This record gives sequence, C-alpha cells and structure tokens, in this order.
Amino acid sequence: MKVLIVGSGGREHAIAWKVAQNPLVEKIYCAPGNGGTAVEEKCENVHIKDIEELADFAEKNKIDLTIIGPEDFLIKGIVDKFKKRNLKIFGPSKDGAMLEGSKAYSKDFMKKYGIKTAAYEVFEDKDKALDYIKSCEYPVVVKADGLAAGKGVVICETCREAENTIIDFMVRDIFKGSGKRLVIEEFLEGVEASILSITDGETIIPFMSAKDHKQIYDGGNGPNTGGMGAICPNPYCTEEILSSFKKNIMEGTLRGIKSEGLNYIGIIFFGIMITKKGVYLLEYNVRMGDPETQAVLPLMATDFVDLIQAALDKKLSQYKVEWNNGASCCVVAASGGYPSKYDTGFAIKGLNHASKVFGAGVKYENDIFTTSGGRVLSVQSLGKNMEEARKSAYDNLRDIDFQGIYYRKDIGIIE
Ligand code: AMP
Ligand code: GLY
Repeated sequence: MKVLIVGSGGREHAIAWKVAQNPLVEKIYCAPGNGGTAVEEKCENVHIKDIEELADFAEKNKIDLTIIGPEDFLIKGIVDKFKKRNLKIFGPSKDGAMLEGSKAYSKDFMKKYGIKTAAYEVFEDKDKALDYIKSCEYPVVVKADGLAAGKGVVICETCREAENTIIDFMVRDIFKGSGKRLVIEEFLEGVEASILSITDGETIIPFMSAKDHKQIYDGGNGPNTGGMGAICPNPYCTEEILSSFKKNIMEGTLRGIKSEGLNYIGIIFFGIMITKKGVYLLEYNVRMGDPETQAVLPLMATDFVDLIQAALDKKLSQYKVEWNNGASCCVVAASGGYPSKYDTGFAIKGLNHASKVFGAGVKYENDIFTTSGGRVLSVQSLGKNMEEARKSAYDNLRDIDFQGIYYRKDIGIIE
C-alpha cells in the first residue's frame, strides 16, 4: 500500500511515523515533508504543493490513500478534486471544511444546532461593529472570519483596543479579505482543551484529550505561537467534563453535519474551554492539531490506517479506538526569537537519542540537519504518568542543541 501525506510540519511527521507502523504500508510520500520525514521509515519527500499536481502525482504513482495535514488544502477543496478523479482521500470536502474556514459560518452552525458556545454577533459593516463595541462588557473577543495564520483572534481589554482591531481587520484589511467579516464574542475564562476526533459523518469518535501550550513563555506568558508543547491526556478533562462535552457539543455537531448534508469523513478537532459555567466550544478545526498530534498519536494503540479505512467505509459505529495506558509529553524546540524574527540555517546536534523526535522547521541535506523554521522540532516521550513522560522528554531534549535553541521548561507540569 502507498500513502501520500500532505503537509510539512511536526504533525505530518507524527502522522507519517504512525502510518509507517502498518505492515501493509510499503511506501509513504510526504508532500513536501521536512527534514524529519526525510529520514523516517518508509518515507520519501516529494516537492509538490499544488492541488492539481498532487492529484496528478497520486494518479501516476497509484497512491492508495492520501491524508491531508493542514486546513488550507481542505478549505480550498482538495478532497472534492481528488474524489472527482476517483482518488482515495481522507478529509472533509470543501463544504465541511467551512467549519474552520469561516468563523461566522461555524458560530451560526453552533447556534443552529444548540451547541454551547460564547454569545456572539457577526459584522460585515464596520460602523455597526464600532457601534456595537460601545455597549459590550470587557474584555471582548474580536475574530477575523477567515484564515489569518493564527493571528485572527484578539482579546480586547478596552473599547479603544476593540476599535483599533476592527479598523485593522475591516479597513486596513491586514488579512487581505479574511477580516472583512468578523465575529465579536463574549470572553470566556477557563482552561482550554483539544479534543481531536474522527468522523465518518454518522459517528464521531473522540480521541484522548490533549492540552496545547500556545504562549511562548513558561506559565502561559508572552505572545501566542503555533504551539510550544502538548500533553495527552489533558488533566482537566475529567469524566464529568468529557460527558458534558459529548452531550452539549459533540452530539449537536453530529446532528448538524447530518442535517446540513456535509460531506465529512475526516478529523474534527474541538477546541473547548472548561469554565465555571460549563464546557464551551471555542472553535472547530477540520484537521489534527499541531503539536497535539505529536502527543496524541503515540498513545493510540489502534492502527491509524485501519481506523481511517473504517471511517472511509463508514464503519465507525462498530469501531473501537484503543489507547495505551500512561501519558505523553511533547516539547517543541524553537529558533531563538520565534514567534518574531529569528535566524535559520544552524546545524542541529544530538538527534540520536532514545525518545521520538518529530521534525518541523528542519532541513536534511548531505547527511546534515539544519534549522529552517520557527518551530524546529518536537521531542515526545511516553511515561507511566505525566511526571515520568515529562522527565523523559526533557532529558532527551537536553541532548539536542542548535544555535539559539529555545523551549519552554514547564510543559507537563500540572498545577
Ligand atoms: P480560536 O481560533 O477561536 O480558537 O481562538 C484562538 C484562541 O483565542 C483560543 O485558543 C483561545 O485561547 C482564545 N479565544 C478564542 N475565543 C475566546 C473566547 N471567547 N474567550 C476567551 N478566549 C478565547
Ligand atoms: N494546536 C492548535 C492547532 O493546531 O490549531
């Protein structure tokens, strides 16, 4: 069996690593992959990024299954294009991908299907938005409707800040169209959790809960990043929280997918906020999280290819996803200066150690690994409990070095 994995991050490396464990898989192409997938078992990087070219590649190389990592391909309709050409692909169609592609669409979907979420209003007219914020309670959250490279959500402490954000999004158009429509919503206070799940459109099976660490500095301080580490399971996701998530969020989502007739066979990732008033849905993502994937997949006992196949065959209602006991901790090492300016091109030393390293901003050329991005790699370890997983990840990370290496020291510390 030949598999094509689209994407270039640590998430895609973790997917490739898990897919490689299926004995029927002989070859995995990573498009474009990274320095980590370049040396992963069964993997070969191919430098294709265009949707038509990817479909041509899949057809020509008789790819049995294509798995999409990032959302932008899904939102642009890669699944629809592949299906038209009878190519097997895992991910939601363009209509389903709107759940991440448009915040206004996803909030209206949540409201329509009675899913617990923050109160909100949608605006396409800047004057109406500017008028509305005069009567809001603060803080208030302003969100660009479309994709904005993770920068489209601003928590505004004052009316002045909200005003500036609205002007940036709607008038200065800093996201080139993505902020022309926006959502203004109630601020929720609590702890976040990432629930990755798989659906065949008839059943949703949640994976083990995870927790991302978005801010650059220890203790959750400093600017947001793409994610500086992740743990699985999320210690705040008790049985009680999970059952409230299922009842108030997951069931409504499934009802919505069915009623709207969305073509959805893929991953659905619920970003939830656990508050004193209950569990709220912050957002949907239509793909796996990064770095959550690097923490979650190593704990999954079930074969991932077999699970994807069951989803494609619409057999999830009879499927049970099995998990190993224990905990998983994944720590991201970044280039000094990230998420602002940073330099790249530095040699990476000490990669031959015991625990798993997933590449991201890494290049592999002439037998040498060098840094090529902000988040360079992540080190993942398992343990009987979080303390053990955390200790092992950090012990291994200490052996790795490159100029300017930076990582948080508090991933996996449970307050
Ligand atoms: P989103 O893309 O909607 O998940 O927003 C990105 C991040 O902004 C979330 O992970 C939260 O940390 C924060 N956020 C989004 N919406 C809210 C909200 N209503 N209240 C508080 N924080 C929020
Ligand atoms: N780690 C959050 C995300 O992938 O969106």
